[in-house]
Amino acid sequence: MKNIILTCLLLLLSTGVQKVQAQSKETNILILIHSQNGGTYTLAKAISEGAVSYPDTKVTIKRVPSINPKEKINAAVAKLSAATIEELAGYDGIAFGSPVHFANISADMSSFFGQSIPIWTARSLEGKPATVFMAAGSGAGREAAIQSFWNTLAVHGMIIIPTGLMGTDKLDKTTPQGNTPFGAASIAHADGSGPTASELNLAREQGKALAKAAKGLKTQSSNQNTPATSDKTISPDINTVVKDAGIVIPPAPKPVGNYVPFVISDHKVYINQVALQDGKILYPGKVGTTAITEEQAKAATYQTMLNVIAVLKEACGGDLNKVKRCIQLTGYFNTTPEYTQHAGLMNAASDLAVKVFGEKGKHARATIGAVSLPVNSAVEIQAIFEIEE
Ligand SMILES: Cc1cc2nc3c(=O)[nH]c(=O)nc-3n(C[C@H](O)[C@H](O)[C@H](O)COP(=O)(O)O)c2cc1C
Repeated sequence: MKNIILTCLLLLLSTGVQKVQAQSKETNILILIHSQNGGTYTLAKAISEGAVSYPDTKVTIKRVPSINPKEKINAAVAKLSAATIEELAGYDGIAFGSPVHFANISADMSSFFGQSIPIWTARSLEGKPATVFMAAGSGAGREAAIQSFWNTLAVHGMIIIPTGLMGTDKLDKTTPQGNTPFGAASIAHADGSGPTASELNLAREQGKALAKAAKGLKTQSSNQNTPATSDKTISPDINTVVKDAGIVIPPAPKPVGNYVPFVISDHKVYINQVALQDGKILYPGKVGTTAITEEQAKAATYQTMLNVIAVLKEACGGDLNKVKRCIQLTGYFNTTPEYTQHAGLMNAASDLAVKVFGEKGKHARATIGAVSLPVNSAVEIQAIFEIEE
């Protein structure tokens, strides 16, 4: 009897622990900005404060890549890392910040979304919460600007979080404020001060509202995905992991010479790929010169790894669940002799392997600088995987 009670207690406790573990999973929020003079960045930091005030929330602030590398941007903003369009799908919620430019979003933000066709057609952002905040000058057209941003997010199927009457209880009515019911906004003041305390307060509330929505949606979707008799030792379905993370596996590139895309020997798959995307090399050129930025080289590396996974999928007869582990990745980078940051570039591939295959994606790795690579690709990856029979 004693044993039965003890077993029941242990069972109850372990279910409780599993529930706590499932619920305490962090909500990952991205704050993605363009900011030339730092106004949008100041609002972004208040959005972040609000978001992290909500339990279990982790925030990353990134900027969109600059479309004009010669443009002088605020030093603190320049230090932020640039996001890639593909990574958006990996977050549970996104706050987008842009300066108001002619009652619209800035050209840099617009150009970033111009690259979003693959994640749009893959419906990678569908159902994810998003919110918009903007820094303005005079404030002219700021509400229209936020709503124009909403159009793009609606086409991506995102759930838009507006601010409504948030922040009105603490609104200082003695000074003009940029606050809108659509999202936080700041207006410039003649003495150069700003954003105001009321504007920052609204930004904090907006950040918190986004984190709350993201947490709720994440919990709901993980509850739906959890079978009634959940067994934590069961490996997740890789095809679902890929889909949920919004990773778009392209068609496997076809060989252009007297070779095959992969060889399987003794349960090992051997694959080599370059940065082909839709039949063309993505961001060709030598890293360390003005031909290609580090962010572009990372995007090319990510694309190359996607191609590796596309070929691997073919080798597994279409089922990535057959992958037992990633054994080794070797990254060759087309660089100047002085270049030393190969490891940082290669992380774009390694991170993707781990994102897709979890523990099984962890691998041994080498990175090498090359004097040139085929078709002027910035990167080539050699990969070895072990698969089931
Ligand atoms: C090309 C351009 C167009 C602009 N259009 C507007 C506008 O329509 N309304 C407005 O209030 N401010 C406008 N501004 C001012 C910016 O919105 C303002 O300087 C903002 O604070 C910049 O944000 P940042 O500090 O994050 O770069 C414009 C600025 C530029 C450079």
